[in-house]
Amino acid sequence: MTAPALQAAHGLAGAIAFHDSELGGPVAHLRSVHGTALVALQGAQVLSYVPSGGSEVLWLSPLARLGTAKAVRGGIPVCWPWFGPHPNDPRQPAHGLVRSSRWRVVETAVHGHAVRVRFAWALETKTAGFPAGLTAQLDVTLGEDLALDLVTFNGGDEAIALTQALHTYLKVGDIGGVTVSGLEGRPYVDQLEPPSQRRGAHKLQTGLVVFEGEVDRIYATADPIATVLDPLLGRRIVVDKDGSASTVVWNPWMEKAARLGDVGPDGYRAFVCIETANAGDDVRTVQPGTSHRLTAMIHAATAAPSGADGVNPVAS
Ligand code: BG6
Repeated sequence: MTAPALQAAHGLAGAIAFHDSELGGPVAHLRSVHGTALVALQGAQVLSYVPSGGSEVLWLSPLARLGTAKAVRGGIPVCWPWFGPHPNDPRQPAHGLVRSSRWRVVETAVHGHAVRVRFAWALETKTAGFPAGLTAQLDVTLGEDLALDLVTFNGGDEAIALTQALHTYLKVGDIGGVTVSGLEGRPYVDQLEPPSQRRGAHKLQTGLVVFEGEVDRIYATADPIATVLDPLLGRRIVVDKDGSASTVVWNPWMEKAARLGDVGPDGYRAFVCIETANAGDDVRTVQPGTSHRLTAMIHAATAAPSGADGVNPVAS
């Protein structure tokens, strides 16, 4: 469907408009009293979220282009139905099948002041060990926060082992000053260690997560909230979640960012990924005829600079 056809079928005056973006593909533009959001049909990938009275919450690479075989770096890529490398076939792409393919718009809706667009993606033939009839449905809702609700339904005839992530790139003032709270005392798999050393070798998070080099960790945590504390931008971003017992924290730092090639100069300093996931040991078995729901809710709030008493109100 072209952007004009999408607009005719699903546009909602004053709330949702479809158009071709300068990134090279169709996008849905959501607008409400709570802010604005932009979602590409490619990957059903949220590219922008600006709450009312606030500034951009998501980081998007200055090199981002839609319509290429490569997934767009930034926003909220949907990694599905596997996270990271394929569990047993190294020829398959990292982070699953849907990041660079076009999703279908199922419906759009307004409920009170919340605006929602529903996307769907279906596996038509058995692929990479996943059965035909496996479907993903993603609701993106712009309300008091930005909510993503990803439902996997197994319409196939065999159980699947599902891993996935809502791979959220959060924009920060400078990664060097950023901390993440909510993961204190949690065990994690350090993905920077060789896979042979990782099994069962959980490390423990002491204190806040800080960034002094590359960080690539799968935290085992069902605690719903992780908070990014950003003193430079004077804000905190809260990532709340449901249906997940793992949270991935990632920043590639300088060398890996250069290797990735699509981060842009010093781009790694401007984001941290807090990924609402089913990853690591948090593998979900989805039986035929059943579903699994993964939800992330993102909320940004202003935080005043450090008080004279030396207590950082951002961290309180
Ligand atoms: C993170 C992984 O989720 O995604 C990292 O933990 C990976 O290991 C990163 O490098 C980016 O992946 P990609 O496929 O977008 O380059």
